Amino acid sequence: MIKIRSSEITPEHIYLSRRRFMVGIGALAASSALLAACGTQGAAVKEEESKPTDLKTTATTDELGDKLTSFEAVTNYNNYYEFSTSKEMVAKLAKDFKTSPWTIEVGGLVNKPQTYGFEDLLKKFTQQERIYRLRCVEAWSMVIPWQGFPLAELLKEVEPTSKAKYVRFETLFDPEQLPGQQSAWYTWPYAEGLRLDEAMNDLAILSTGLYGKELLPQNGAPLRLVVPWKYGFKSIKSIVKIELVEEQPTSLWMAAAPNEYGFYANVNPAVDHPRWSQASERRIGEFGRRPTLPFNGYEEEVAQLYKDMDLRANY
Ligand code: MTE
Repeated sequence: MIKIRSSEITPEHIYLSRRRFMVGIGALAASSALLAACGTQGAAVKEEESKPTDLKTTATTDELGDKLTSFEAVTNYNNYYEFSTSKEMVAKLAKDFKTSPWTIEVGGLVNKPQTYGFEDLLKKFTQQERIYRLRCVEAWSMVIPWQGFPLAELLKEVEPTSKAKYVRFETLFDPEQLPGQQSAWYTWPYAEGLRLDEAMNDLAILSTGLYGKELLPQNGAPLRLVVPWKYGFKSIKSIVKIELVEEQPTSLWMAAAPNEYGFYANVNPAVDHPRWSQASERRIGEFGRRPTLPFNGYEEEVAQLYKDMDLRANY
């Protein structure tokens, strides 16, 4: 059952989803009237495009009462190694990144492989607002009002076969636009992976916007993953390929330093990074540090995914 967090139930949210519901019903009624009147099959129902900009952020905190990080900080303190290893430089260097036209290929072990234009995804999947804490492996964190849709909705569309066990994601490879990809330090393009049941969890979303605006390049425009119970590096930006696979994928960070970055990367205050503690974090915009919560505070929703696993060995 899909659990709706209380923070998501803003009056505007309810209004928007009701409005969409009404539009959907209206379109359906009109098309069946058309079918009855002229007796033809297959009258096209025009789907309404739902844009991240339809959702204006009205909440000021998340469900734990933590304040939203300012738009300024969310869009000017970024990790995006394809542009720069300096968090303060990314926004400036990414500003002309070309995010349109953009296609996303979804394939591998599926019955119905698809290539979507980014606009098709906006038409197909209703945008929702999700306020999530993002906990970076470097022990800082933010609270971000994302817009997007559950990854599970997209995966259901392509029908994973029984052989599919993992989902692999890939960022655009374009060393001219993404100069960091000219560096031989990493195995480009940036890649990440989730186990299929993790990917199907309702908390995992594909994001298209934040703060009621379309995503900016520095945040991974036009489409990025957000997996709030895992360290931020799992939330891969500017995705062009999603593939269902049988074997556990190797991410860019696992290839670079396997003893430091595991496949699971669940936020875990009890397991330190080899070079620093993960027990506490610095919330951007606040003084001091705060304790890090297991699974970044989403334990109730996701702990069952790992119930038989040793989380020290599977870091
Ligand atoms: N995706 C790509 N392609 N390249 C990156 O360098 N950095 C990751 C993740 N996704 C990264 C990426 C890390 S380490 C973090 S913490 C988050 O993006 C940061 O997202 P933000 O800049 O939107 O806060």
